[in-house]
Amino acid sequence: MLKKNINEFNSFFKEINDEWAIVTAGDKFVGYNAMTVSWGGIGVLWNKPVAFIFVRKSRYTLEFMNKSDSVTLSFLGDKYKKEKTLFGRTSGRDVNKFEETGLHASFEPDFNGYFVAEADKVLKLKKLYSTDIDFDNMPESIKNSNYANNDMHVMYVCEVKQYLVNEE
Ligand SMILES: Cc1cc2nc3c(=O)[nH]c(=O)nc-3n(C[C@H](O)[C@H](O)[C@H](O)COP(=O)(O)O)c2cc1C
Repeated sequence: MLKKNINEFNSFFKEINDEWAIVTAGDKFVGYNAMTVSWGGIGVLWNKPVAFIFVRKSRYTLEFMNKSDSVTLSFLGDKYKKEKTLFGRTSGRDVNKFEETGLHASFEPDFNGYFVAEADKVLKLKKLYSTDIDFDNMPESIKNSNYANNDMHVMYVCEVKQYLVNEE
């Protein structure tokens, strides 16, 4: 994988919305888990390049988001749609998603976390901040259509430490 400047990541909206990402959370000390996400963003906060990730309270991945600062977003092409669907439909509490799909968790010595080896693009992240999303100030229609069961999101702000691209 080649290290690139984050300024060169210019299709985030399409990637996250149409093709989704796999968020991996955790590290070699606490273990890790991964799940599919299609909500989120990249931008700038506190003069740092950051990614915004939204994880519902019910997700197993949330435990690793909270236990570790090491997070990645792995972007895999359309040929991995089936695998990405499995990562978004099953829980790491019940299934080893990597074994089930044949995808591999990759680890590099300069970073404690794991990313998906088969990804075209990877953002290596460091969690900076998290906050619970709550009902205050939320439009009623959003509340009704997204939170009928009260499974609220936690918003994570993570600093982009490295942007990797697989150019093979
Ligand atoms: C296309 C797609 C996008 C998803 N986006 C999110 C998301 O942004 N946030 C979230 O909390 N769950 C999202 N999910 C649901 C989780 O990926 C799913 O509940 C997963 O099974 C959780 O796994 P875990 O229990 O191992 O953490 C999405 C699922 C799919 C299929």
